Amino acid sequence: MAESKHTLSNDSVISESKTVLITGASSGIGLALYNHYISLGYNVICCGRDISKLEKLNTNAQAKLAFDVNDIDSVNEAAKTIIAIDILILNAGTCEYIDDAKNFNGQAFRNVISTNLLSMGVLLESFLPKVKRGGQLAFVSSSATILPFPRAEAYGASKAGVDYLANSLRSDLKKDGINVCLIHPGFVKTPLTDKNTFSMPFIITPEQAAVRIYKGLKQNKQYVHFPKRLTLLLKFLSLFPQKFSNSLLAKDV
Ligand SMILES: NC(=O)c1ccc[n+]([C@@H]2O[C@H](COP(=O)([O-])OP(=O)(O)OC[C@H]3O[C@@H](n4cnc5c(N)ncnc54)[C@H](OP(=O)(O)O)[C@@H]3O)[C@@H](O)[C@H]2O)c1
Repeated sequence: MAESKHTLSNDSVISESKTVLITGASSGIGLALYNHYISLGYNVICCGRDISKLEKLNTNAQAKLAFDVNDIDSVNEAAKTIIAIDILILNAGTCEYIDDAKNFNGQAFRNVISTNLLSMGVLLESFLPKVKRGGQLAFVSSSATILPFPRAEAYGASKAGVDYLANSLRSDLKKDGINVCLIHPGFVKTPLTDKNTFSMPFIITPEQAAVRIYKGLKQNKQYVHFPKRLTLLLKFLSLFPQKFSNSLLAKDV
């Protein structure tokens, strides 16, 4: 995929036309990322489960790949169509809550761990070899890993696994010239959070989230977290004994 310069009508150079692959680009944060990168002239490969949703995207992506991240064969087949990637953003994810911990919903736990964490092994096996030297690998995890939230046993465990995976891969991929970025969004208004009935402090729009992720990656950051008024507060609370944060969070969720 050839590198070229894209210019705005006022002739200012806005980006080198790099190739970005985004999973979960049919909705929420992934869709906002897709729109943002397309508006800046990047080649975007967008991925989702439902090709009809991807077909409705209003601009021409470099490629539209439909696969379920839990389906190893579909992921492998999709990856065969891709030659090279500059920025790989692993964003697709799901959330199911454990409403009754004593009667633990093992199926919900397996669903979430599979989609959010086990799928990473499949996606990395298929797409990471396509990432160029000097490229970037970004994981959309969650600020939920900063503190243990009630009902988030499945979601939080899956994202804590993603955190470890990203941080561990970072040192191993250094020799390949690939920067690994871990992303911790706070609450973002998307179909995923529209289901929440609890209050979501400092919630931001997917477009605001996309700009923060874009800027972080542009600066080659290893860790991007936002909005800081939430993530820094969570980090501060995490310094106290867990019984303190437990009682604080249990009131709301
Ligand atoms: N929203 C927040 O407040 C928030 C906060 C922290 C972290 N995050 C993380 O941000 C990421 C995006 O979330 P979002 O809020 O934008 O959610 P969303 O609007 O529900 O979008 C989720 C995206 O992931 C895709 N996806 C889900 N399961 C998939 C599967 N099995 N195979 C392939 N694609 C699948 C969906 O595709 P379909 O269209 O096919 O369903 C959709 O494109 C997730 O990893 C989430 O955990 C979100």
